Amino acid sequence: MTFFFISHIFGAIVIPPEFIEEVLSRVDIVEIIEPRVALKKTGQNYSGLCPFHTEKTPSFSVSQEKQFYYCFGCQVSGSALKFLMEFERMEFIAAVEMLAERVGLEVPKSDHQASTETSRRRKTIFEILGQASAYYCEQLRAHPSKERAVGYLKNRGLSGEIARDFALGYSPPGWNNLYDTLANSNFERDLLIESGMVIENKDEDKTYDRFRERIMFPIRDLRGRTIAFGGRIIGDGKPKYLNSPETPVFHKGRELYGLFEARKRNAKLTRVMVVEGYMDVVALAQFGIGYSVATLGTATSKEHIDRLYRLVPQIVFSFDGDSAGRSAAWKALLVTLVAMSDGRSAKFLFLPDGDDPDTLIRKEGKDKFELRLERATPLDEFFFSNLESDLDMDSMEGKATLSKLAMPLLSSIPEGVFKQLMIDALAGKTGLEASRLIQAAGQGQNTATSRSARPPQGSPVYEKRVSEGPGLAELALSMLVQQPELSQEFEDSSYEQLRQNPDARFFGEIALAIRQHELLSPGLLLGHFQGKTEFKSLRSAMDQEQLLDVSELREEFKGTVSTLLDRFETQLKQELKKQLINKPFAELNPEERQLIRDNTNPKSQL
Ligand code: UTP
Ligand code: MN
Repeated sequence: MTFFFISHIFGAIVIPPEFIEEVLSRVDIVEIIEPRVALKKTGQNYSGLCPFHTEKTPSFSVSQEKQFYYCFGCQVSGSALKFLMEFERMEFIAAVEMLAERVGLEVPKSDHQASTETSRRRKTIFEILGQASAYYCEQLRAHPSKERAVGYLKNRGLSGEIARDFALGYSPPGWNNLYDTLANSNFERDLLIESGMVIENKDEDKTYDRFRERIMFPIRDLRGRTIAFGGRIIGDGKPKYLNSPETPVFHKGRELYGLFEARKRNAKLTRVMVVEGYMDVVALAQFGIGYSVATLGTATSKEHIDRLYRLVPQIVFSFDGDSAGRSAAWKALLVTLVAMSDGRSAKFLFLPDGDDPDTLIRKEGKDKFELRLERATPLDEFFFSNLESDLDMDSMEGKATLSKLAMPLLSSIPEGVFKQLMIDALAGKTGLEASRLIQAAGQGQNTATSRSARPPQGSPVYEKRVSEGPGLAELALSMLVQQPELSQEFEDSSYEQLRQNPDARFFGEIALAIRQHELLSPGLLLGHFQGKTEFKSLRSAMDQEQLLDVSELREEFKGTVSTLLDRFETQLKQELKKQLINKPFAELNPEERQLIRDNTNPKSQL
């Protein structure tokens, strides 16, 4: 894999191939890629979303053993060196240098090399975004039409000091301001496009600035590097906020606006408030609540929560008091449950009608607002009140339903005192003993070891299990929801194949989602699919009676999914055959000929 580089020359100087070998042998490719692409260990290798093409399910794979990356989707591959060159768009020499520095080696070079290098200073997406941010700040200070922006901010009650702390800026009117300022070469032009700051219209061979005439909010990572922007229209108009698109350095579902600033403002953060909007974060900070962050117009994700709990033990979620707000809060709760190890806590603040944190803090000030935070609804209270809201808790039926709804969700809480307290609370409400609740839920989730749960042969459930038809995919799904780790048994490509088939569509989708988002508990699964078309299938799969002993489940799952795959492959072959059959035999390649001859088709019996 290093052959390409061995022959690489720079100016008149050849970098000795042994040196490159030496550097590569000391570097760990995983350490190089991981900070740039979120990777997850899957078996021997690491995998993640490919940074070189757009995709929803990870097909980018990194082998630590072979020190090599490969994308099954777009087929890019190479060493740590190639990765840096492609991902960071670094010059060969600069990339070798960077790696060499990491491992404590010095690149042998001449004066000639050194000067060429400085002139071609490497530039990354981060650098161009940093320059964009500086440019917007400057425009807010000095552009001839800056008064519009400054006036707007003043009107909204923001101080110059807070604008500085959040590096607020102004993108002036006009289509090419940023472009003309920063695109000094094709290289920079490409970076501007790749970073989402400039939009390319290929048909007309034109480019234009994404953000025009807006207040600019830079979104910064924990190190303070600008990774994206939000831009608010000045006054009314649509869209009110424009955000950077997904780029190699910006993944909306993962980032939190204001986290960098919150950490900077507080020597020690003890809690974080999660709000909806950019303006909320900035206004709260100005009025003394410097520990809020905003999700960027997306639902609260598991990544958000994991990130926050790594920094603080308490999260307060703030939501509108209306029904949309409550439903968003419930989704956040489902994702939070899974992270509720002992020592962590979560609260839910429901705002008065018509207010957001920005308007409220201005009206009441820090102390009153913080009193609201103290009095916000604790997670356990919201959990039960929400589940009980449609139930008649005086009736047996109501109590039974509550335990049925609550237990799968409570099982998603990590083991510990909090989980026990929640189960005890449920026991108190339903009059059932905690041990019985756990047992009942265990059966529903296949933690029971009793063989008595097995249906007798000849029973309708058993017949369904062995029968053909869509029942097979349903069966696979019910096993999967009972033990989501089973999704590891097959590769993404298998599930992708199944998902193409109407009968197994939901099964394939759900298995992929489990793998991609680590939905390893019923609560997470339900939360992820809430409001989506898969939700009903998921619920009914969860409600299915558990048929198999846990020890048998894995083998049974493998068998069922293999059968499904075989069946669809056979179908595919038959369709292919139908097409081939109409072609002249002479035009077929050997494989196609074999396919036509092959009429034994042993798997078509399945
Ligand atoms: P809101 O519409 O509640 O706006 O959107 P806001 O934060 O109160 O804004 P101001 O006070 O009118 O300035 C909440 C968040 O949803 C995202 C943004 O992240 C925004 O802060 N959003 C909203 C968008 O991404 N695009 C939009 O067009 C609107
Ligand atoms: Mn607002």
